[in-house]
Amino acid sequence: LELQGMNFNLTEEHLAVQEAARDFAQNALLPGVIERDSEAKFPKEQVRQMGELGFLGMMVSPDYGGGGMDTLSYVLAMEEISKIDASCSVIMSVNNSLVCWGLEAYGSEEQKQKYLTRLASGEVIGAFCLSEPEAGSDATSQHTTAEDMGDYYLLNGTKNWITNGGSAEIYLVMAQTDVGKKHKGINCLIVEKGQPGFTIGKKEDKLGIRASDTHSLMFTDVKVPKENRIGDDGFGFKFAMSTLNGGRIGIAAQALGIAAGAYELALTYSQERRAFGKAIFEHQAIQFKLAEMVTKIEAARLLVYKAARLKDEGKDYVQAAAMAKLFASDVAMWATVEAVQVHGGYGYVKEYHVERLMRDAKITQIYEGTSEIQKLVIAREITR
Ligand code: CAA
Ligand code: FAD
Repeated sequence: LELQGMNFNLTEEHLAVQEAARDFAQNALLPGVIERDSEAKFPKEQVRQMGELGFLGMMVSPDYGGGGMDTLSYVLAMEEISKIDASCSVIMSVNNSLVCWGLEAYGSEEQKQKYLTRLASGEVIGAFCLSEPEAGSDATSQHTTAEDMGDYYLLNGTKNWITNGGSAEIYLVMAQTDVGKKHKGINCLIVEKGQPGFTIGKKEDKLGIRASDTHSLMFTDVKVPKENRIGDDGFGFKFAMSTLNGGRIGIAAQALGIAAGAYELALTYSQERRAFGKAIFEHQAIQFKLAEMVTKIEAARLLVYKAARLKDEGKDYVQAAAMAKLFASDVAMWATVEAVQVHGGYGYVKEYHVERLMRDAKITQIYEGTSEIQKLVIAREITR
């Protein structure tokens, strides 16, 4: 793929990662994906296998037990896994691009030795805890507090909508230490499951990505040692925003995969299903849907790969990541609705997979910053 000034030449290694992810999705994720969705059953065994295959710490340096791969490799794997199972891909995305990346980029050597190595190998998974009941898009208005008690912080408050909320062992929690300093008073603390005062709320019953577990978390006088703070005092909001810039590339890749998965199913089905004496693909109305789908998906792919490349080249990728997520998530929502339409009544039942992809697509317009927030980020970047 060539884009002006950009070169997407995929190396042998990229192609090998893509193929490994495709095989894993077909062999390990496709069987049981409908049941896990219906029963909202966490894919414990599949996540264990993802760890074993190196999909949970792809970009982490081998020094900390990771795969040492680039962002493009990660995006290629996310795309393939999302074609089949977007619940597994969000678990993967949070662990790779929010938890591992954040710890590797900003954690201390001790924090990396203690936490990152276990997260990168998939021995345990992590969660990223920014959102609260009253602070979603408006993320600076954190109500969770981390009172400075000298050698520890006293953590109090509630986090909402936390992916891997019940299944994680390690949580990166944003909390306000000095409200007078507004967002510059926020800290990010590493909290371990089982610490006294830390309780996990009920699992949310969701429209899509139903096999991933989303929980609220409650903290009551949880003592967090000072050495578990990431970065300097007051760095927490900057930490969250910087980490989310990369996270948005992961979610954009998830959206791309969902769209591409729906397209592949619709194309195959349209060549098999017959109506009025010919395959429905032979009807121009259906052909045009597929032509438009493949075009928009390719456009989304270029934006997603471009954002990944910019990150790998050490260039500014804030705007590119927001553009990729904004566009790819809209393509995912639109393309999955079209894929259901191509399937007719069969598209409306679980057996044919496209209804699940349609439900899964919606979240990509909401989490890691809604589409409205991506527009705000893009607008700020273009006027900076
Ligand atoms: N990259 C780096 N820094 C950024 C940034 C970015 N993309 N966006 C904002 N900042 C910095 C600003 O530079 C500023 O820092 P300084 O004062 O040091 O310059 C600070 O953050 C505050 O920014 P603003 O003054 O612009 O704050 P705001 O309140 O007007 O807007 C916002 C901030 C962009 C809307 C931000 O709150 C935001 O991104 N909201 C969406 C939150 C979000 O994405 N949540 C996702 C939760 S995780 C998740 O969802 C995981 C999952 O599902 C799988
Ligand atoms: P609100 O911020 O209340 O927004 C409501 C509506 O108002 C939206 O349409 C929004 O775009 C719009 N809006 C708000 N402000 C503006 C504005 N300034 N301009 C224009 N429109 C605006 N969070 C985590 O921290 N960690 C996680 O792991 C995580 N996982 C999630 C998993 C799921 C399944 C879900 C549903 C959410 C998850 N989230 C997570 C939270 C997610 O990031 C938030 O839901 C999201 O950021 C939106 O916040 P909100 O729900 O409070 O909506």
